[in-house]
Amino acid sequence: MLIFAIESSCDETAAAVIENGTKILSNVVASSAAQHSLTGGIIPENAARQQIRSIIPVIDEAMGQAGVTHKDIDAIAVTIGPGLIGSLLVGVETAKTLSLAWNKPIIPVNHMLAHIYANWLGEKVPEFPALALVVSGGHTDLVLLKGHPSGGKDNLTYLGGTRDDAAGEAFDKSARLLGLPYPGGPSIAAAAAKFKISNLKFKISLPRPMLDENNYDWSFSGLKTAVLREVQTSKDIKLATTEIAHEVQEAIVECLVTKTLKACQSLKPKSLLLAGGVSANARLREAFGLKIENCKLKIDLFVPEARLCTDNAASIGSCAFFNNTPTPWRDVCANPELTITG
Ligand code: KG4
Ligand code: ZN
Repeated sequence: MLIFAIESSCDETAAAVIENGTKILSNVVASSAAQHSLTGGIIPENAARQQIRSIIPVIDEAMGQAGVTHKDIDAIAVTIGPGLIGSLLVGVETAKTLSLAWNKPIIPVNHMLAHIYANWLGEKVPEFPALALVVSGGHTDLVLLKGHPSGGKDNLTYLGGTRDDAAGEAFDKSARLLGLPYPGGPSIAAAAAKFKISNLKFKISLPRPMLDENNYDWSFSGLKTAVLREVQTSKDIKLATTEIAHEVQEAIVECLVTKTLKACQSLKPKSLLLAGGVSANARLREAFGLKIENCKLKIDLFVPEARLCTDNAASIGSCAFFNNTPTPWRDVCANPELTITG
């Protein structure tokens, strides 16, 4: 089955052609992140306007790279939420138009669930039960999958998540306070990489809230307040930046790894799936690998390629294949935004 997928929930405009949920025939992403770095973060109106500019060229490129025509496509998958409404509308309206013109069904896709399906696009396919940590700019969620969610309502259990800021938001806001460019995750990671532990000058220590609590929840809003305090009281912020960036990354990684592995020890899933933009973080990926080895946990760790961690349409196509509920295009606009929680 060939699925043509569209993703436009935020500042990436993406289209892909996916075969049987696991094989990428094309995966094209246009990002307007550079423009948002000029404003220190995303202004939704700007993101939506960039979606309008990029959507048709990106679709053309994805169909061309896959070497297919619309006659070869079986269904169109599109992100219907969560996301910025102006950005989402561009993808959804385009998918509805193509559905009508090509006479193909639409498969509406939840963006957060799709992030998890980046793990079906690698060399090995995950086994259930699988624990998934979804860490993005707007979400930090821990979910247990007993099977594909479309297989039954008990297949997806929400275990916990952030009570305030998402992990990606903590990276983005900390970077902004440090004067580092948007998106903050890669900026903090790059600054942290310049820091050598032997150069420890300021002995900065940031909070790791809720670490010992008996739940699967996180709280990251205190981190930005602590970073702000460091910035305001620092005698030499230029010199302290790499050390603060290192400590921000360590604090976020320790919180995410500790709580997630606690869930692994208690629920004993076969697979652990990392997903979402923050899972592109090299230190996070390394820390999970090391901790699983040290704890001698019998679990298969799945980490998508970095380009499949951040927003892309290949994951949308995979999620649509495994959770296939084709919908007539008229129903798509009546479908409210889905969320992974609740
Ligand atoms: O999944 P994503 O591309 O979009 C959303 O659905 O939100 O995630 C974007 C988030 C941003 O907060 C960005 O700073 C973060 O992922 N991110 C990273 C890295 N690459 C992207 N965070 C830490 N390290 C990275 N290498
Ligand atoms: Zn995303």
